Amino acid sequence: MSTDRLIIFDTTLRDGEQSPGASMTKDEKLRIARQLERLRVDVIEAGFAASSNGDFEAVKAIAEAIRESTVCSLARANDRDIARAAEALKGAARSRIHTFIATSELHMEKKLRMTREQVLEQARLAVRFARNLCEDIEFSPEDGYRSDPDFLARVIEAVIAEGACTINIPDTVGYAVPELFGEFIRSLRERVPNSDQAVWSVHCHNDLGMAVANSLAGVKIGGARQIECTINGLGERAGNCSLEEVVMAVKTRRDYFGLQLGIDASQIVPASRLVSQTTGFVVQPNKAVVGANAFAHASGIHQDGVLKARDTYEIMRAEDVGWSANKIVLGKLSGRNAFKQRLQELGIALESEAEINAAFQRFKDLADRKAEIFDEDIIALVMDESVTQEQEHYRLLTLAQRSTTGERPHAEVVFAAGDAEFRTESDGNGPVDAVLKAIESKVESGAEMVLYSVNAITSGSTESQGEVTVRLQHAGRVVNGVGADPDIVVASAKAYLSALNKLQSKTERVAAQG
Ligand code: KIV
Ligand code: ZN
Repeated sequence: MSTDRLIIFDTTLRDGEQSPGASMTKDEKLRIARQLERLRVDVIEAGFAASSNGDFEAVKAIAEAIRESTVCSLARANDRDIARAAEALKGAARSRIHTFIATSELHMEKKLRMTREQVLEQARLAVRFARNLCEDIEFSPEDGYRSDPDFLARVIEAVIAEGACTINIPDTVGYAVPELFGEFIRSLRERVPNSDQAVWSVHCHNDLGMAVANSLAGVKIGGARQIECTINGLGERAGNCSLEEVVMAVKTRRDYFGLQLGIDASQIVPASRLVSQTTGFVVQPNKAVVGANAFAHASGIHQDGVLKARDTYEIMRAEDVGWSANKIVLGKLSGRNAFKQRLQELGIALESEAEINAAFQRFKDLADRKAEIFDEDIIALVMDESVTQEQEHYRLLTLAQRSTTGERPHAEVVFAAGDAEFRTESDGNGPVDAVLKAIESKVESGAEMVLYSVNAITSGSTESQGEVTVRLQHAGRVVNGVGADPDIVVASAKAYLSALNKLQSKTERVAAQG
């Protein structure tokens, strides 16, 4: 099946969420899924339903909310996982089960401890079982690129015969190089007698920085017609193929690829911002398409050229990928209706009037301190626990800190832990250190801080809100907390408490590759 339509399969909410510290709550996933639908991705991989109750609920909520894109759940090649995926997807307008099993010698022998014949049989039975529960079945041979092509071809032929309609070839460890990967897909398609009965897909990891190039080669040389990718290239280790880069490559070089896409590119930057604000994974400034500098011209020669004729130095227009959509929207005089409408346009569905009122009050407070409110500010303020359904355990109540030249900074913090209220104080090397030490002296989490970063949410100016990311590690878990406020010390306290909340949550997660 080789058409000129390229299917975009987004796995930000599944493979992307497997990045250490990127795990998201149900509400956060739902918000991102709505944005992915606005971006018009063809398939949203919403999670791995059998991995935890939390992920099951998230896949279910997304399946019930999304009407345009196909909603997919990952499942290992066993009846329990597949049944759980089908159950979570029940409410979907269009659903897909994505089942996988490893096929490389290394994975079969060392990880699965199964023979080739056992793997072949399990793949066949899994697809047969899944096909009885859902029409749209995708099969992935994990570590496919490092698998023996003859064996791989046998497995693929068998699962297509059982009704798999998408065959996805993962480069699980990011080992491929573009030409070889493209050839690998092409020769595999030739080897499999019933290959024309399925759409071929590629799923590339970025360990050598070639995930986008490999995916494009899989399409151009190999004839694949689905690319699996994530917003901002989020994902295991060095990440996955980056949606924004692959989409803009295909659109900008249509002369070369000659493929149609269903994507609304103007939603790319809002999607990138939402994912980075939700996960705390900051986008590097020089990142293609979505980095803050992607369309900034610093040298005089370039600026002069762009002013005279834009295409002297620009191959894409910033507004086409959604940069202009983020210009100022609301201010101090904006009313509740304008605010509510902007929430709707951003795809933020607050359940009750009380939640909208709480969010609007926070918006007014922010507008008193900041002249222009951008979309990113709105996203940050609705993420604040006081307006989301999920009541967090730790909440910042008040904070005071004093810094005087020549003296050690001192902080006093009042925070809630469930129904209790704690007052605490501490000195520190700097004001942020004093605040976090004060909180830690009461909570005694014992967590190690592995990352602390501050970013200006909207522009580089000091008027902007500061967005702080704190990554904590404890007992084998890594979590990210994000906090935003015009005062970066307050933002730091919020980020620290948010990370503590995530550490505290008991949600168990099963590694998808397991
Ligand atoms: O990288 C990988 O192999 C995967 C599969 C589960 C598709 O994510
Ligand atoms: Zn993967």
